Amino acid sequence: MNELNNKVAVVTGGTRGLGLGIAETYAAAGAKVVIAGRSQSTLDRALKTLHDQGAVAAGISCDVSDLEQVEALGRYAIESYGKIDIWVNNAGLSAPFGPTVSTPIPTFMNVINTNIIGVYYGSMVALRHMLPQGSGKLINLLGRGDKKGVPFQNAYSASKVWVRNFTTSLAKENKDSGVDIFSFNPGLVDTDMIRQVEAINGYEKRLKPLETVIRLWANPPEVPAQKALWLASSASDGKNGLSVTVLDFKTTVGGLLRDAWRRITRQPAPDTSLDITTVMAEK
Ligand SMILES: NC(=O)c1ccc[n+]([C@@H]2O[C@H](COP(=O)([O-])OP(=O)(O)OC[C@H]3O[C@@H](n4cnc5c(N)ncnc54)[C@H](OP(=O)(O)O)[C@@H]3O)[C@@H](O)[C@H]2O)c1
Repeated sequence: MNELNNKVAVVTGGTRGLGLGIAETYAAAGAKVVIAGRSQSTLDRALKTLHDQGAVAAGISCDVSDLEQVEALGRYAIESYGKIDIWVNNAGLSAPFGPTVSTPIPTFMNVINTNIIGVYYGSMVALRHMLPQGSGKLINLLGRGDKKGVPFQNAYSASKVWVRNFTTSLAKENKDSGVDIFSFNPGLVDTDMIRQVEAINGYEKRLKPLETVIRLWANPPEVPAQKALWLASSASDGKNGLSVTVLDFKTTVGGLLRDAWRRITRQPAPDTSLDITTVMAEK
């Protein structure tokens, strides 16, 4: 695998979950990777994992909702490896499951500031470097609700609709620039985001069905990371504006068939338990 030889990739939220899976996949394909997240200890752990795998990787702590920190991330990537070819706006948060009016305003705003403002800042830093160089891949992460609103997950779903529209507009504005701008929905991915969930008090039980959904359809990060690799590679050259999703018919039916086969062969069900934290409703 050398699809990304001589490429430099920045992955925000690359310190765990899907972002780390993407960073590992890019590094295994020959890229030098720069990862970022808010927690220094998680960043250190992720860098150790990457270096143990033989990756060329560096990282810096960065909160994507802070413009100065995102600009510093861009400078750090260039100082470390000389250029930026690929930028993945992967860092994301979800709010507690529950009614919008009961969600604490600072919690709602955290999601907006990370999922919307963070993608905006990341896109500006990436494009202001890539457009003059006449090449690059910008990949913005979508998620549940990116086509329509989802009740009780309003902050998250509304943020992803915004990312979809924002990315489409960016791609149209920059057609023929040599930079390819994509949106990417990785489907359901087995990460902290879906295992360590929060609910507004009284809404905890409504999260129970998520355990079944995880059993049927959650993929490990390395599965969507392969699609993210395709988007970052020369295979996607000229496909500016493409929106890719892992959630297709094959995945849906495949999950049902796998689970049916597990039952027929009497294999134990995988552990899909959730860690649910209650958040008190804002009055
Ligand atoms: N998991 C799924 O099923 C799923 C489905 C569709 C889309 N997605 C999207 O995929 C992306 C990754 O999700 P995931 O499941 O891997 O989430 P995750 O396991 O919760 O990891 C999130 C990553 O983002 C970082 N992060 C969060 N807020 C940040 C901020 N303000 N600034 C910088 N880094 C920040 C986290 O590190 P720190 O906490 O240390 O900052 C961590 O590295 C998100 O955009 C999500 O919406 C996920």
